[in-house]
Amino acid sequence: MSLEERLRVVKEFAGLTDEEVGILRNTGSLDLELADRMIENVIGATHLPLGVATNFLINGKDYLIPMALEEPSVVAAASNAARMARMRYGFRASADEPVMIGQVQVCKLRDPQAARERILEEKGRILERANEQDPVLVKAGGGARDLEVRVLSTRLGPMVVVHLLVDVRDAMGANAVNTMCEAVAPLIEELTGGKVYLRIISNLATHRMARAEASFPKEALGGEEVVEGILHAHALAEADPYRCATHNKGIMNGIIAVALALSNDTRALEAGAHAYAALEGYGPLTSWEREENGDLRGRIELPIAAGILGGAVSVHPVARVCRKILGVSSARELAEVMAAVGLAQNLAALRALVAEGIQRGHMRLHARNVAIAAGARGDQVEKVVRRMVEERCIRIDRAREILAELEGG
Ligand code: MEV
Repeated sequence: MSLEERLRVVKEFAGLTDEEVGILRNTGSLDLELADRMIENVIGATHLPLGVATNFLINGKDYLIPMALEEPSVVAAASNAARMARMRYGFRASADEPVMIGQVQVCKLRDPQAARERILEEKGRILERANEQDPVLVKAGGGARDLEVRVLSTRLGPMVVVHLLVDVRDAMGANAVNTMCEAVAPLIEELTGGKVYLRIISNLATHRMARAEASFPKEALGGEEVVEGILHAHALAEADPYRCATHNKGIMNGIIAVALALSNDTRALEAGAHAYAALEGYGPLTSWEREENGDLRGRIELPIAAGILGGAVSVHPVARVCRKILGVSSARELAEVMAAVGLAQNLAALRALVAEGIQRGHMRLHARNVAIAAGARGDQVEKVVRRMVEERCIRIDRAREILAELEGG
């Protein structure tokens, strides 16, 4: 479809208003005054292309998935994998309640075990103090739910680490959790006689896991040999952290692109994903197996602290439109979508790697950037791309020559 056709379809699918389409169309839509309120020392705003991944059927519901990123092939790859999953049942995804962990570090304790017990005895009081900080969250059905208390031995002696488990509902949750941790710290010092230093959220959100699974027909993938190749690629990721980092990077290509479109905290998601992957020795976030009929089944599981409310999510005009396009009604649903996109992205990458290699598809798209960088405009772009691909020579000097020929003739 042309860009105009795409905008029309997305508008219809998501019921966007003319004003919302205007926000998408206007790539300078982050108002400078708004940007100036979002971070410090603002001098401008930067933009990324925003695409929509298609074909996603997740838990029986159709989605158009906004993705913001600079890398070619990713949106096409996700859409292609989703098309294959759709031939079976699409993606089955689930996510835990949105419970985040806030950490309070208690040091300089004479008897850490006794301190631990004292904290657990006073759990009710501590949770109450935490919940006083955020009546809005509590009213929305969230709030501090429970405590976990661990004694750790460190280079500087034993420490108690209190985990405040907070249901943050539809937010990513850092603000609510950090406020609660700071509020309960004096009470914990009073109860234990210890010294509290850190009071901060943990990005290893193991109570907020999301998962997805899907089945891909072997014929659609390119046959038994491709299935065999993907299983071998997965085995290498399990055995080798050098490969596994790239395997997981491909997964995060998708998840982070969705996060960026919705102005979520991408660094928190990356930190959580890789820390989880490393919990028992760095490993892949997905697993792949052959089904009895020879098809390929994949699963993904990782912590996803995604939000649809609060912070930049509610402020950024493009993020708001993206949320409407995505049509998710809760942070849990967003996490399910992200998990499905991560699985799709991994399948697409592995399929391309074991079949034709990723450069062929990649270079075609890359050729477009090269043509534009060489100065091609309008229908010149496609002409230059076609010639470079035919000649298998995708270089800026060749693009300039072809362009000169086109302009000369
Ligand atoms: C490139 O951005 C992502 C891949 O390298 C992922 C992978 O190797 O699995 C293609």
